[in-house]
Amino acid sequence: MILKRLFGSSIGRKILVATTGLLLIGFVLMHMLGNWNMFFGREEMNTYAAFLKSIPGPLWTARIGLIVVFILHVIIALKLKMESSAARPVGYKKGNTMRASLASRYMAQTGLLILAFIIYHLLHFTFGQVDPNTFSLLDDKGRHDVYGMVVHSFQNPLVSASYIIAMFFLAMHLIHAVQSMLQTFGLAGEQSRPLVQKISVGVALFFFIGYSAIPVSILAGLVGLNG
Ligand code: HEM
Repeated sequence: MILKRLFGSSIGRKILVATTGLLLIGFVLMHMLGNWNMFFGREEMNTYAAFLKSIPGPLWTARIGLIVVFILHVIIALKLKMESSAARPVGYKKGNTMRASLASRYMAQTGLLILAFIIYHLLHFTFGQVDPNTFSLLDDKGRHDVYGMVVHSFQNPLVSASYIIAMFFLAMHLIHAVQSMLQTFGLAGEQSRPLVQKISVGVALFFFIGYSAIPVSILAGLVGLNG
């Protein structure tokens, strides 16, 4: 009954997009904090990666949950986008288009670019298809050398650049996502608009800098194979 109401109305679908979006931001935050182990060296990063694999029950529950949440988010968000375009068959008037921010106009495009990045990223670091040689590295304790794999990969400027560009699209997506999520949850009114804008830009910058710091530090030689 409650599911029917959520899926069946436009506001219900907005709540679903906002809630799944919030859960995805939660994952992106946890993943970034985990990846910061790269700054503490091989031992910390590989221990963290080995720990995740040592708890297959919670790991697979989280993975399956993440996939379901991600699929729901994409499908419902695209449906909302098609509905709003259909309700406005002649498109925005020029004035409105000027007012709509760049980030808000390209939500579907930045979202689909993030999807493309995730497919590439999984092939790269989870399935080892992009660079099989570095994927099979082991550390001195015989564990998967995730640290070495990431350093080797990001020492290639093209790989690092592709990740930084993807993080830019993630940040663009987040700027509008955070604003519209706060609005859907009733936390953003006319008065609080400037504050909400600051929060959303802050969140986007936090993730952009936090993730990009890894390839940038590797390219700059601050994080290296001897770590
Ligand atoms: C500098 C940026 C990033 C680095 C260095 C990085 C690193 C990694 C590594 C090493 C793995 C494999 C872990 C393992 O098998 O032990 C992984 C998996 C994954 N990453 Fe990232 N990641 C980055 C950005 C992102 C972003 C922005 C997203 C999402 C938008 C993301 C989503 C995922 C997902 C969904 C997995 C699979 C998780 C799993 O297998 O359980 N990553 N990442």
